[in-house]
Amino acid sequence: MDDSSDRPNSDFAPGAFSPGNPLLGSGAFPAVILAAGKGTRMKSRKSKVLHPVCGKPMLQIIVELAATAGLGPHIVVVSGKSEPVREALGSGCLYAVQEEQLGTGHALIQSQDVVPDCDNLVVMAGDTPLLRPQTLVELTQTHLASEAPITMLTSSLTDPDGLGRVVRDSDSRITAVVEHREADPETLSINEINASVYCFRTSWLWDNLPRLGYSATGEIFLTDLVEVAATQGSEVASVTVEDGAEALGINTRLDLSRAESMMRDRIRRHWMMEGVTIPDPESVYIDHDAHIGIDSVVLPNTHIRGGTIIGEDCEIGPNSVVVDSQIADQCRIVSSVVEQAVIESDVQVGPFSHLRPGAYLESEVRIGNFSEIKNSRIGRATKSGHFSYIGDAEVGANVNIGAGSITCNYDGEKKNRTVIGDDVFIGCDTMMVAPVTIGDRSYTGAGSVINKDVPPDSGAIGAPARIRSRKTGNDSGSPGRNAAR
Ligand code: UD1
Ligand code: CA
Repeated sequence: MDDSSDRPNSDFAPGAFSPGNPLLGSGAFPAVILAAGKGTRMKSRKSKVLHPVCGKPMLQIIVELAATAGLGPHIVVVSGKSEPVREALGSGCLYAVQEEQLGTGHALIQSQDVVPDCDNLVVMAGDTPLLRPQTLVELTQTHLASEAPITMLTSSLTDPDGLGRVVRDSDSRITAVVEHREADPETLSINEINASVYCFRTSWLWDNLPRLGYSATGEIFLTDLVEVAATQGSEVASVTVEDGAEALGINTRLDLSRAESMMRDRIRRHWMMEGVTIPDPESVYIDHDAHIGIDSVVLPNTHIRGGTIIGEDCEIGPNSVVVDSQIADQCRIVSSVVEQAVIESDVQVGPFSHLRPGAYLESEVRIGNFSEIKNSRIGRATKSGHFSYIGDAEVGANVNIGAGSITCNYDGEKKNRTVIGDDVFIGCDTMMVAPVTIGDRSYTGAGSVINKDVPPDSGAIGAPARIRSRKTGNDSGSPGRNAAR
């Protein structure tokens, strides 16, 4: 499928060809991306082009690969109900609206007022995320080296079902693209397909595009321009990609799963080529924007999602899910879920723990099994080995959090903070009823309920706890209200 292991790692990592494509000169070389289609075959409430492939909406993948190839600005043709698309892409794109979905040719016409003055432009579909930036560069190079009004991307597929066929004459000159549903049996036997990526001479395009007629299905096919050019006696140039995946247009959920699997494979190959060990690649899912340092090992059944950054010499997995998190060097995450968390170096988590948004673990922290940490900073070398919940807390360095200890952070109305100093010993099953502070070097007894502040160098025992002097062992106050309700 993808034999590109010796290529530069440019398949998906944006920026591989940046800044820009020097071959395109300094003028604008816009890319128009057609994304207004109904996507009926997806059977989805969501726009087809927003369905993610390896964690990123396919349209965003396409915009980024166009940018990587040096094309810009990006003009996205959207339907009338395009808010989610605009939200996903942000302000970096220009938009043209196609109110009625009357075909790819009709969609391109809508962009004319938005496309800036330029000699040439690229037109792409919003559903071909496996295209490589390098292929776009080759397409534009071939185009600029020819006189052709159109240069198109084609591929030869063993199963060209559903796609537009590229018709060539006896001299191999392209004469037409015939859509599958309009093709006769002889045309259907052609394996070369239109990948829906084109380079046009702009003036020729704007002259001829408005003259296209409606097909039998009531649509204006962009592909009909190929026959127009050929009939005028012009050459239609082409670039043929060997890797058919590049031409995969996603029309159904089946196509989506194929694209996802091929993209996943590319991403894993990329990281293995970059020095990451993945002993069982098939079971590992890594999103587009994730990053993994050298000599890290990603063990089976592990998902590294979103913009996660993993350092060097880490061991992630087996059975771990890491989402939008930063993990520094020499960490181990075993059978655990880590979401929007930051972990400094030499930290161990798991098995079976859950770091939730806002968890910050300083170096040498040890989190064992069945611990949950949310919106809390855990100081250097602190340990929480078994069954604990730490929420909205600030925990110092070298703290030992005994089994079953819990920050009771929620009083039914608001979340309250727990502050634990350095070198504190939290006895098993301690309930810390927030807001509460436990001073440096203090301890809590097993089963204690801490509902008022514990000064430094003290112990706190009982339920609710009484404060005692660490030296004399005498109580220094009466029991407070039991707030652990
Ligand atoms: C298209 C090509 C076909 C090619 C195939 C490659 C045409 C007529 N056919 O077929 O030759 O082999 O891609 O994948 O172009 N869109 C709009 N407005 C519309 C219709 C479509 O913006 O009115 C957009 C879609 O959102 C999509 C792209 O154009 O991103 C392609 O449309 P789609 O319906 O997927 O075309 P295919 O049938 O796949
Ligand atoms: Ca398509």
